Amino acid sequence: MRILGIETTCDETGAAVLENGRLLSDVVFSQVPLHRAYNGVVPELASRAHAEKIAPVVAAALAPALKKAGRGRPPVDAVAFAKGPGLPGGLVVGAVAAATAGALYGVPVIGVNHLEGHLYACELRDGRRCRPLEFPLLALIVSGGHTELWRVNGYGRCKLLGKTRDDAAGEAFDKVARLLGLPYPGGPEVEKAAARAKGDEIRFPRPLMPGTREFSFSGLKTAVSYYLRGHGTAGAGAVSAAFQESLVETLTAKTVEAAKACRVKNIAVGGGVAANGALRASLAAAAAKAGLKTIFVEKRYCADNAAMIALCGARMLEAGAVSRGACGINPALRLENWGRQV
Ligand code: KG4
Ligand code: ZN
Repeated sequence: MRILGIETTCDETGAAVLENGRLLSDVVFSQVPLHRAYNGVVPELASRAHAEKIAPVVAAALAPALKKAGRGRPPVDAVAFAKGPGLPGGLVVGAVAAATAGALYGVPVIGVNHLEGHLYACELRDGRRCRPLEFPLLALIVSGGHTELWRVNGYGRCKLLGKTRDDAAGEAFDKVARLLGLPYPGGPEVEKAAARAKGDEIRFPRPLMPGTREFSFSGLKTAVSYYLRGHGTAGAGAVSAAFQESLVETLTAKTVEAAKACRVKNIAVGGGVAANGALRASLAAAAAKAGLKTIFVEKRYCADNAAMIALCGARMLEAGAVSRGACGINPALRLENWGRQV
């Protein structure tokens, strides 16, 4: 079985083909250079760039599948696209591309939750067959727009335990980077600056919000901003390190605590912020100490990509969770159960 995935939720235009759990192609056109001048994603520019790039990106991803299928045969058995959450203009572009490909090849079209894609991305392995997740597990999804904890009982059986009340973890990285005069996207820049820091003279508060599974990072960002008012940006490395330490410690403590409370043995971490080395090291160490296993998405699949959308679509097809003619988008999409009761 071959499935085409399409990703257009934010600032990456992606298409990929997954063949029986192995990637045949994975194409991403990143709009990051386009948005860098504005220090963040400009929705109108993002929609236009998606509209411009979607055809060549899909064509490039389909090329090896067309070759394999041979003349007169559809290159894929299904098309999956990210139907939300995300920016409406980009989502429409992805939905139209998916609907067109589905109609052209006479195959089903599957609308996928982008955040679920970030979880299943943990199964992707560069150039190799997917490694299935072990359920039940506790999922931490940390991206530019979301920070959520889920209890996951199986494919399509995710329950939201808590999320951020304000800024997402990636958003906090991006805003602190802006305060420090570092370019967009801020996460990798703050991580690099933190690695150069010497000493640990600065300490920001840990927004732990005891007794809840929720997060709040806007106060931490404000603490950084107040600090900088008094000290300027000269110590960008030390500020980055102190900010990152506070955020990482908070994510680590709350994730491990939730996993223990849910009585699960596995923790899976996905999303753009999962690329952060300090977070990976901290969570792996704390989880191991608590006798828990961690699985992190491979670094190349942390950021938005269509491989994870194709994979989620494949899992939905396997579960029979596909309804004909479902090409709608939902920019504020919430988690929905589509998996079989186990
Ligand atoms: O998942 P993603 O590519 O897009 C969304 O769905 O939002 O996540 C992008 C976010 C950005 O906020 C970016 O700054 C952050 O992930 N990020 C990082 C790192 N790499 C990317 N944050 C911290 N450390 C990193 N190494
Ligand atoms: Zn994402």
